[in-house]
Amino acid sequence: MYRALIRPLLYLLPAETAHHLAFACLRLLTAIPGVLALIRRALHRGEAASRVQTLGLDFPNPIGLAAGFDKDAIAYEALGALGFGFVEVGTLTGQAQPGNPTPRLFRLPKDRALVNRMGFNNRGSEDAVARLQQPRETIVGVNIGKTKVVPEEDAIGDYVASTRRVGPHADYVAVNVSSPNTPGLRDLQATERLRPLLSAVREALNEVSPARRVPLLVKIAPDLADEDVDAVADLALDLGLEGIIATNTTIRRDGLRSDVAEVEHCGAGGLSGPPLHERSVEVLKRLRARAGDRLVLISVGGIETPEQAWERIQAGATLVQIYTAFIYEGPFLPTRLAKGVAQLQKKGTVPFS
Ligand SMILES: Cc1cc2nc3c(=O)[nH]c(=O)nc-3n(C[C@H](O)[C@H](O)[C@H](O)COP(=O)(O)O)c2cc1C
Repeated sequence: MYRALIRPLLYLLPAETAHHLAFACLRLLTAIPGVLALIRRALHRGEAASRVQTLGLDFPNPIGLAAGFDKDAIAYEALGALGFGFVEVGTLTGQAQPGNPTPRLFRLPKDRALVNRMGFNNRGSEDAVARLQQPRETIVGVNIGKTKVVPEEDAIGDYVASTRRVGPHADYVAVNVSSPNTPGLRDLQATERLRPLLSAVREALNEVSPARRVPLLVKIAPDLADEDVDAVADLALDLGLEGIIATNTTIRRDGLRSDVAEVEHCGAGGLSGPPLHERSVEVLKRLRARAGDRLVLISVGGIETPEQAWERIQAGATLVQIYTAFIYEGPFLPTRLAKGVAQLQKKGTVPFS
């Protein structure tokens, strides 16, 4: 029904307007008492999904929603009810900011891809606290990034301010140093800059949550050179991080099926969806080879089917995330993926664990 009826209607709207409309529906579902429980019951009927115990948490299934969809931590309970095993909210920055001028989100339907230069539009980490404090059923990771107007030399202070606010309420914290739409952000992936940043965030987490160790992960770009991927893995191990999320969107544009004019029309920004698949798998395998079983790896980038999600798990992913496929395939995709992976797991080989 989504593909035949709703998606064509949404396509008539600019991509960001369609997102706001879908989001408004999710908020509506959240506002009507009892509806989320009904949806949960309807969608999760029948066979058990494949639970995953990791990061000290019990994930109902390994399929997560990647950061950027629920930037302000507003609809995570509705998204959990739709079947996501966890939701990563954010990116939240130290200060509220409007993001880049619109239009800033574009579809490339021939590639089932998106290009975005949203630029971390969000209400800021302080604003999200009240919502993150609410009791919840859904596992929620909180992704944090740098406020655009904060000078690069003060980046650590901005991340630490957000960490102090959201840390106590996060099931895990993800440090985002990989979005292409905040000038200079990706330079923080260089180990000499990443080490002090991650150390400061770890320390702040320990201070604000002394009784519960909040897992800390770092999210990296697919455009890192192989040796830099290795260097981040080594650093994560050295600092005792729990894991790595790989990958964010790419600034590359090669191998696309869309016409050159369509691609050029999008302009600058991060490309997501199937064109990311190959590099995302490569980075995952590299990280797993480097880290052995000492890091939790969340694989993201171009996953659309249960087979692809299962392939990631077999290639070393502890959990996976999706974003673009959710936009193209609609609200039933999380359940379809979770059930599909459970079936593949039943007949398949034991994944890396
Ligand atoms: C519109 C849009 C906004 C995004 N915003 C964020 C963000 O705020 N923070 C972040 O870490 N990743 C963000 N991402 C990247 C996704 O979390 C994900 O890493 C990427 O899209 C690759 O996964 P996919 O191919 O399944 O979409 C965004 C992606 C899209 C398409």
